[in-house]
Amino acid sequence: MKAQIIDGKKISGEIRENIIKEVNDLKNSHGIVPGLAVIIAGDDEASSVYVSMKEKSCKNVGFYSQAYKLPQNTTQSEIIDLVEKLNQDPKIHGILVQLPLPKGINEDIINSHILPSKDVDGFHAVNSGNMLLGKPSFVPCTPKGIIELIKRTGEEINGKHAVVIGRSNIVGKPAAVLLLRENATVTICHSKTKDLKQHVAMADIVVAAVGSPNLITGDMIKEGAIVIDAGTRKIDGKLVGDVEFDKAVDKASWITPVPGGVGPMTITMLLQNTLKAARDQCK
Ligand code: GUN
Repeated sequence: MKAQIIDGKKISGEIRENIIKEVNDLKNSHGIVPGLAVIIAGDDEASSVYVSMKEKSCKNVGFYSQAYKLPQNTTQSEIIDLVEKLNQDPKIHGILVQLPLPKGINEDIINSHILPSKDVDGFHAVNSGNMLLGKPSFVPCTPKGIIELIKRTGEEINGKHAVVIGRSNIVGKPAAVLLLRENATVTICHSKTKDLKQHVAMADIVVAAVGSPNLITGDMIKEGAIVIDAGTRKIDGKLVGDVEFDKAVDKASWITPVPGGVGPMTITMLLQNTLKAARDQCK
């Protein structure tokens, strides 16, 4: 079987067109411009690129955006003070603290200071808890994008066996919870999993979120599986995923490329979450 490609860039573009319309409606009906503040501390190169992309994407859909670029030696209390100032700023509807943070700064403590109503990353314990309970909440952007990509194939998630590889708080764990909410039977694999191949071979849906190039080889994939690759690693300046794409593409029914699959969806979901935050706050 030759897989169909899930074109994250195209899907992302379609969703952003809708966001632009909704931003105009919100401006016309309530005089509100959705505003996102992004805080970045330190000089992690990949993070700087992501933050610039987030700023640019905000401008492109008509949001107000403000990036706070703090030095590597910024203290935890300086970041908390900034978060608390932004919590009170009526122009800002969403606050995002780019991870990873410099050594010595506790990201859970930082996230706990963001008002849950402005937590567009969905990392605050209140939002994570509500997501786990199936209640309304902000949902982390990458897993949210993964579910959207699977749904856009038109295939059912209900009743499928989904295998998530990776258990990070940003992608793996929330992706597993969201798949469970869609009535998938979910297995989570991680670095201590004994027989990764055996688990992946049973998957109707594979979600790889590790950051380990070619960890998921083509021979592991079950014929007809949906394969979502959320891995991102730079090798010799080239972005590569977790899945051995060239082989997996001959086994899967649907597959995301890297780049151009999950990546573009993450920022689009951030825009959606920020729009939701702005709407909720003007109620
Ligand atoms: N670093 C990598 N992915 C993310 C993300 O989705 N949000 C934040 N805040 N930091 C990240």
